Amino acid sequence: MNEELARNLNNAILRCNNRYVEENCGEFSRMYPFTNENISGYIDFFPLKDHSLLTVGSSGDQVINAINKDCSDITLLDINPYTRYYYFLKAASIISLDIDSFRLFLRFMDYPKVFRDNYKVFNKQLFNKVANELKLLDNDSYTFWNELFSLFEPLKIREELFCKDEEKDQCLNMFNSYLNSANYNALKDKLKYIKPKFITGDIFLTEIKQKYDNIWLSSIGPFLRNFDKIKEMTDKMYSLLNDNGLLLISYLYETNKDTKYEPEFAPIYDLEKVYAILSEYHPELITFLGVNFNRSWSPSAMEDSILLCRRK
Ligand SMILES: C[S@@+](CC[C@H](N)C(=O)[O-])C[C@H]1O[C@@H](n2cnc3c(N)ncnc32)[C@H](O)[C@@H]1O
Repeated sequence: MNEELARNLNNAILRCNNRYVEENCGEFSRMYPFTNENISGYIDFFPLKDHSLLTVGSSGDQVINAINKDCSDITLLDINPYTRYYYFLKAASIISLDIDSFRLFLRFMDYPKVFRDNYKVFNKQLFNKVANELKLLDNDSYTFWNELFSLFEPLKIREELFCKDEEKDQCLNMFNSYLNSANYNALKDKLKYIKPKFITGDIFLTEIKQKYDNIWLSSIGPFLRNFDKIKEMTDKMYSLLNDNGLLLISYLYETNKDTKYEPEFAPIYDLEKVYAILSEYHPELITFLGVNFNRSWSPSAMEDSILLCRRK
């Protein structure tokens, strides 16, 4: 077993044993089981087929949706060290299971019904069906999950390694076009031959050598505490774009061009100031149906946006 896998597995075991673990991923120490962004709302603004993509996203959904759109040169950079193992577990599950069994294996909250959680999540019978494909895709990921599933109850693993931020089926189906049956079945083959690259690290500290046609920074933006950090992140990521490349600077919840900034919002939502500090990059807002489309009281809160810039 390589050193990185041994360390990650050991830390995951400690966490499942309720022991404190020193890790560098702070508030992102738990993975997102599924995306909490409406990826379908923005994905078609990016040229993905035969182009490259650098993205964060511990749920793996950014990568899986990009593969669904025939993007084949993908790097997943995330601060959470278990991201790679979860991506391969999800990919092997799509390849090995029909869509209902996939949901039964990986969905937990509000599944199969709202207000009922799925106590068959990560069940061992379904893991046994996925295990062979997982071994073929990435042996380290097989070792990681096989060891955890043999030591702990599935719910314990779900609780300790994943956050509780999981949307309902109606939303997840809208966010992820791979969750429609035709796309899901077509994806099985693509996932066998498209091999993403993985980097575990902080986007602010990690040296990245490749240049990309597309970079997605998901919703890191709302977690940044000041404008200097927003500028630092954008400067660094813009410098990694190929000519004409597109940078998704931040996903913005419940935001359109008319949304008024309130002092309790994170700085990235102060669009006037953000446009000013990033003026050299000419950022623009692209707006689409938001994740809270079905539970918002005000029309503007039903929309989300991405802040985007293009390398000239
Ligand atoms: C802010 S979180 C929110 C989840 C996200 N909206 C999604 O749909 O996956 C975005 C992702 O960025 C990762 N992340 C946060 N800060 C990071 C950083 N400084 N460097 C690298 N990854 C980071 C988290 O681990 C998480 O997977």
